[in-house]
Amino acid sequence: MAFKLAVIGCGGMGRAHSRSFKNIGEETVTLAAACDLIPEKAQKFVEEFGYAAAYTDYKKMLAEVKPDLVVVTTWNSAHAPCTIAALEAGANVFCEKPMAMNAKEAVAMKETAERCGKYLQIGFVRRFGKDAAEAKKLIDEGRLGDIVYARAFYLRRRGCPGSWFGDKEFSGGGPLIDIGIHVMDLARYLMGNPKPVNVFGTVNDQIHQFCACAGSTSPWKTDDAGVTVFNVEDFCAGEIRFENGAALHMETSYNMNLKSECNAVEIYGTKGGLILNPLTYITEMGGNLVNVVVKEENRYNGDALETEDRHFIDVIRTGIPSMASADDGVQAMKMIDALYESGRTGNSVKL
Ligand SMILES: NC(=O)c1ccc[n+]([C@@H]2O[C@H](COP(=O)([O-])OP(=O)(O)OC[C@H]3O[C@@H](n4cnc5c(N)ncnc54)[C@H](O)[C@@H]3O)[C@@H](O)[C@H]2O)c1
Repeated sequence: MAFKLAVIGCGGMGRAHSRSFKNIGEETVTLAAACDLIPEKAQKFVEEFGYAAAYTDYKKMLAEVKPDLVVVTTWNSAHAPCTIAALEAGANVFCEKPMAMNAKEAVAMKETAERCGKYLQIGFVRRFGKDAAEAKKLIDEGRLGDIVYARAFYLRRRGCPGSWFGDKEFSGGGPLIDIGIHVMDLARYLMGNPKPVNVFGTVNDQIHQFCACAGSTSPWKTDDAGVTVFNVEDFCAGEIRFENGAALHMETSYNMNLKSECNAVEIYGTKGGLILNPLTYITEMGGNLVNVVVKEENRYNGDALETEDRHFIDVIRTGIPSMASADDGVQAMKMIDALYESGRTGNSVKL
């Protein structure tokens, strides 16, 4: 039988997942309801994708529609209440990243899923790229040896998405919780999902006041409601030590005065290294250390999001462990909380 799908949050990511589930097909998923605080946005999803009903109140929607599968694509501050309500109403939940505003909320979500016996997957889409699959294959074959160190960069020069992303009350933070999370999580995934134990971070919020604000990426871009708040960090860098002794260095920014932008994950082992993306494998060959650029079709791909959604269907149908579990979401939020705390106090944080 097909799953009854409801989406909460009819913005950019609600649209991306709706497109993906429509592609997956109605023999697997029927589009039962679209919910947004703004009635026109929910109605637009009915017209655009063929959802059967539009709602503005997710609690009413959950009670009336009783969906089997709920996709939460609201701003970050609504992730925990929407996810918990959906799980308690008997749905399996796919929640976009970041899982929540902080680790405390994330733990409550994970515990609710366990208590209700429902599946909860987090939107770590980078885990589902072809580059990540190929990298994982090389790592699992032992080609890197033991992984000892990783670096993760998501650095924009002038790149705050604007609207609620700049307002801590809705977002929980800036580039760290919004974009840095993608590369930190991908690095942790390729390192074998180790537990973080010690974190040291540097956080800066002084840069944006000096930025010339031009174009759609300006931090001062307003949304429909005219929100102009920008009270999140511009930049965060940090070191995360894991329980197996390996370490991760990360850097992320919306507004750094860089020469060029950077979105990369580097994994270093005792026998070889890997850089994503494009996926490059560094290894010894005939006495030389060589860089092998992996073939084009194994690069990061635009349809990774559909792979991610198909995987969640498999998880619900077969009970296989999710490749982006609630626990992965919790570990990401623990790293983020600790980086913010360390940045604030100047001390390292033990987890
Ligand atoms: N995986 C990725 O690559 C990726 C990319 C972009 C955004 N995201 C994440 O996806 C989420 C959504 O981002 P977006 O860019 O689509 O934002 P958006 O602003 O385009 O859409 C969010 C929508 O949620 C609605 N909403 C908020 N609270 C609600 C509630 N309680 N009930 C119903 N509707 C509610 C808003 O009205 C808005 O229409 C964020 O958590 C963001 O971090 C993930």
